[in-house]
Amino acid sequence: MSAYLLTAPAKINLYLEILGDRPDGFHELVMVMQTIDLCDRIEVRQNRSGEINLYCQHPEVPLTENNIAYRAAQLMMGQFADIYGEIAGGVDITIEKNIPVAAGLAGGSTDGAAVLVGLNLLWDLGLTQPELQELAAALGSDVPFCIGGGTAIATGRGEILDPITDLDGIPIVLAKYRNIAVSTPWAYQTYREQFGNGYIRDAAGWQTRMKQLHSGGLIQAIQKQDRQAIAKELYNDLEKVVLPAFPKVQQLRDCFANHGAIGTMMSGSGPSVFAICESRDQAEALKHQVAQELNDADLELWVTQIASPGIQAEIR
Ligand code: C5P
Repeated sequence: MSAYLLTAPAKINLYLEILGDRPDGFHELVMVMQTIDLCDRIEVRQNRSGEINLYCQHPEVPLTENNIAYRAAQLMMGQFADIYGEIAGGVDITIEKNIPVAAGLAGGSTDGAAVLVGLNLLWDLGLTQPELQELAAALGSDVPFCIGGGTAIATGRGEILDPITDLDGIPIVLAKYRNIAVSTPWAYQTYREQFGNGYIRDAAGWQTRMKQLHSGGLIQAIQKQDRQAIAKELYNDLEKVVLPAFPKVQQLRDCFANHGAIGTMMSGSGPSVFAICESRDQAEALKHQVAQELNDADLELWVTQIASPGIQAEIR
């Protein structure tokens, strides 16, 4: 086959707790990650030039090494140089960007995951999902999750995954101000400055928190597919630094809560905010009410849903 089309979903965090500092400079996290039905589409097409060519119409998407999709192709070429040199040639990667950029939705990570999956197929490498996820961890903390998607507890930097019962079909409204972008390194660094004194210092303490999450209310609610209970258990430590710095994001979150969302939370390092709803009709009504009340041309809103697939591939 000479080309594949990959569907690459965004993620939200139903839970994100920062436990402490790791020796590698990252933070030790315990999270519940969830794919949603808002997807980029990525075509990977074999070329004979030997080059990686990246194409995307979106003005904020870099077409260089700054893009995880580009780095994913470099990584695969480096790892599988023999195959690349003799058989594969280069690759043309075309990204149709639907997931907002710098939004806390893993938009860049999921494109990188799609390129790994796509090149595995294009070059007929036969790598398994765990092997792809190991490569993915070198590209970014969220990339391994993006490969398999679904609902998972993520620990370590976010790359150690423990899949749990998949949620599916729960309607959500997602919102992001087009003119607000949050830098993930800034969010974590600011959190460290403000809350680092409270970090758990030892690995045994981290293990205890992970076990508490495993047996706690959120995981039980997910197992029962109880959306009211899930909505009450949403949590994100990074809200403590992002919401005070970006009052419009706080206002958006308040607006969702005031108009009847059963739960609302910022995703990842933000600034996107999601609201869990009882039904698609309620989600449509909520989207309309929030758009009307905030009345801001920079505010983008989507009605979407929680969904289980990770990267999906089809032959072009
Ligand atoms: O892994 P990724 O490239 O997505 O991380 C982006 C940045 O977020 C890191 O450079 C780091 O500043 C911060 N981060 C962290 N701890 C994590 C994940 C990310 O401090 N577990």
